[in-house]
Amino acid sequence: MAVAQVTLGSSSVTTTPLGLGANAVGGVNLFPNLKDETGIEIVQAALDNGIQLLDTAFVYGLGHSEELIGKATAAYKRDTFQIADKAAQDLSSGEMVVSNRPDFLKRSVDEALTRLNTDYIDVFYIHFPDADTPKAEAVGALHDLKVAGKIRAVGVSNFSLAQIEEANQDGYVDVVENQFSLLHQDARADVMPYLAERNISFVPFFPLASGLLTGKYTADTDLNFGEGDIRSGMDDFKQPRYSQILTAVDSLAPLAAAHKASIAQLVLAYYIANPQVSVVIPGAKRPSQVEANAQALQVSLSEEEYAAIEKAFSAFAA
Ligand SMILES: NC(=O)c1ccc[n+]([C@@H]2O[C@H](COP(=O)([O-])OP(=O)(O)OC[C@H]3O[C@@H](n4cnc5c(N)ncnc54)[C@H](OP(=O)(O)O)[C@@H]3O)[C@@H](O)[C@H]2O)c1
Repeated sequence: MAVAQVTLGSSSVTTTPLGLGANAVGGVNLFPNLKDETGIEIVQAALDNGIQLLDTAFVYGLGHSEELIGKATAAYKRDTFQIADKAAQDLSSGEMVVSNRPDFLKRSVDEALTRLNTDYIDVFYIHFPDADTPKAEAVGALHDLKVAGKIRAVGVSNFSLAQIEEANQDGYVDVVENQFSLLHQDARADVMPYLAERNISFVPFFPLASGLLTGKYTADTDLNFGEGDIRSGMDDFKQPRYSQILTAVDSLAPLAAAHKASIAQLVLAYYIANPQVSVVIPGAKRPSQVEANAQALQVSLSEEEYAAIEKAFSAFAA
């Protein structure tokens, strides 16, 4: 079944409402590394199952995620998938410094194009705000790259509402990528109203709360994730919040069963149906997870079901 496409902001980019978060593909910043072959298979599983937006960043393996995406997509027609990429980490001094300087952003895009083995990047985000570059100047540099055809849409990520407003002074911001999930709903009252008013698309990160919203965790799950795994430090995986989350997630089981879907598919269908979410980008550590997540595109929720999912997580509303 053909999936309706979404348009990102005022750009010409159209894509599927379900993407792939490629942090685990070649990345070592949030989780221990996967094998390169697994990363490539994850990307190809996405493209083979109707998922078009691949969300990566320089910092995911310091360019390695981008390289693996370049390899994984080499045999696919370029206009059948979209790449979202990010930069803000400048290593040129020998240390990692957050930079939004126009010259740094322009160099980052050129270098990313080489690693991705492509002529253009569909969405390019400033990954994190720096302390001193005027935001409109930084976004202006991405706008120049858009006019030059090197990128097709301008994004910012991890920007507060005030920072987004400053960055969007000239109306150049097409997409914002910030954290949002049924467990972390601050964006709802915070950035979402502004974005909706300005026709800026919203792409939430950590949509499955690092796997917690898939329904696979129980009171008995071993929560020792080991060194280098971001879940080890997350409050969501600590009591008493962990038990509250399990109760809310488990309450979705009857609705998931009614749709012959998994809880993960039901949760992803909720984001796809959410008018304030443009593209949901769940991550994956195995191709089978991507294949399963792609099936969320076939789950259609009634208004009552959508409201019931929100109600199940009302304790986590901002
Ligand atoms: N802009 C930013 O600063 C920023 C920050 C963070 C993330 N992101 C983006 O957002 C994406 C999503 O974040 P994320 O991947 O960390 O978190 P997530 O989407 O909330 O969780 C993904 C994890 O859930 C588990 N999972 C996924 N599908 C599953 C399924 N069908 N069944 C069971 N388990 C499943 C996998 O982990 P296990 O198998 O280990 O359980 C997977 O790695 C990233 O990949 C990245 O592209 C952006």
